[in-house]
Amino acid sequence: MTEERIVSPETNEQEESLEKSLRPQYLSQYIGQDKVKQELSIYIEAAKNREESLDHVLLYGPPGLGKTTMAMVIANEMQVNIRTTSGPAIERPGDLVAILNELEPGDVLFIDEIHRLPRVAEEMLYSAMEDFYVDIMVGQGPTAHPVHFPLPPFTLIGATTRAGMLSAPLRDRFGIISHMEYYEEHDLKEIVLRSSDIFATEIVEEGAIEIARRSRGTPRIANRLLKRVRDFAQVQSDGVIDRNVADQALVMLQVDQAGLDYVDQKLLRTMIELYGGGPVGLSTLSVNIGEETETVEDMYEPYLIQKGFIKRTQRGRVATALAYEHFDYPFVEKND
Ligand SMILES: Nc1ncnc2c1ncn2[C@@H]1O[C@H](COP(=O)(O)OP(=O)(O)O)[C@@H](O)[C@H]1O
Ligand SMILES: [Mg+2]
Repeated sequence: MTEERIVSPETNEQEESLEKSLRPQYLSQYIGQDKVKQELSIYIEAAKNREESLDHVLLYGPPGLGKTTMAMVIANEMQVNIRTTSGPAIERPGDLVAILNELEPGDVLFIDEIHRLPRVAEEMLYSAMEDFYVDIMVGQGPTAHPVHFPLPPFTLIGATTRAGMLSAPLRDRFGIISHMEYYEEHDLKEIVLRSSDIFATEIVEEGAIEIARRSRGTPRIANRLLKRVRDFAQVQSDGVIDRNVADQALVMLQVDQAGLDYVDQKLLRTMIELYGGGPVGLSTLSVNIGEETETVEDMYEPYLIQKGFIKRTQRGRVATALAYEHFDYPFVEKND
């Protein structure tokens, strides 16, 4: 699929400057994720009182929920610098050493997609995280020997969409593990209102609710939809986003009442129309809709499962009564 999906939780390059301008800077501006915020605010305050670096933090959850944003918020709250890299960007151990070498006491090192860190770099992190040093091998062959390289105390913040893909030794070295949840509609509404304010766009509450409802529990998608709805409001009406304008724009963008786009719809319809609602294997389903199995598993399925349209069973995926109802198909209970 080459076409850009409006409800993809992944970001693209043009979007990054937009996201930057919309990022909350402090915990007090960070909407939702109350449990995560509450825990972190306690640890942050305690660390500041002791004048120590914050424990290492692992943030995990689906894309677009605010992991990168939270890493920056933590650094701001701790009043320290943040250095950012990602698992795939670190190709050799030397890449990691170069970054560690620049850290000042208390700094945050943010490693995005930490589950994609090469093995050798990961192993180097163990001592860096635990005792703030790394052993670097110098020389080659029989003259090779480790050189002890001390580091200042720092806070590693790792972000991952899949905590299960992290090795146990790495996971165990995080003192704070925070799971990000999909957002409630009322929180997304607040995010849409806040972003509208930053855009200086006029919006009424019902308009914000309409966008929130169709944003798949994901702030990144809420902001993206808002941007498109704003364009629509400017051209098609007086620029004010009300419920009607939001609805019309989202219909035009092919995002339905439940936040499903054409790929989701095709997936569910395929299950119902071709496979009698399932069970059907993930790979069969993926072939039918022309997507990679991994894409379906990571990008489409989680939301459909969370919303109760699909169930995972031993024998494959099953469309639920809710899915049938969504497309006005009669649902027949099966015994399996
Ligand atoms: N709690 C929040 N409050 C307001 N905006 C948020 C919040 N969480 C995320 N966002 C917005 O959503 C976008 C995506 O967040 P990001 O931190 O990049 O997600 P992730 O790193 O989990 O993929 C950012 O531009 C940010 O403005
Ligand atoms: Mg991110």
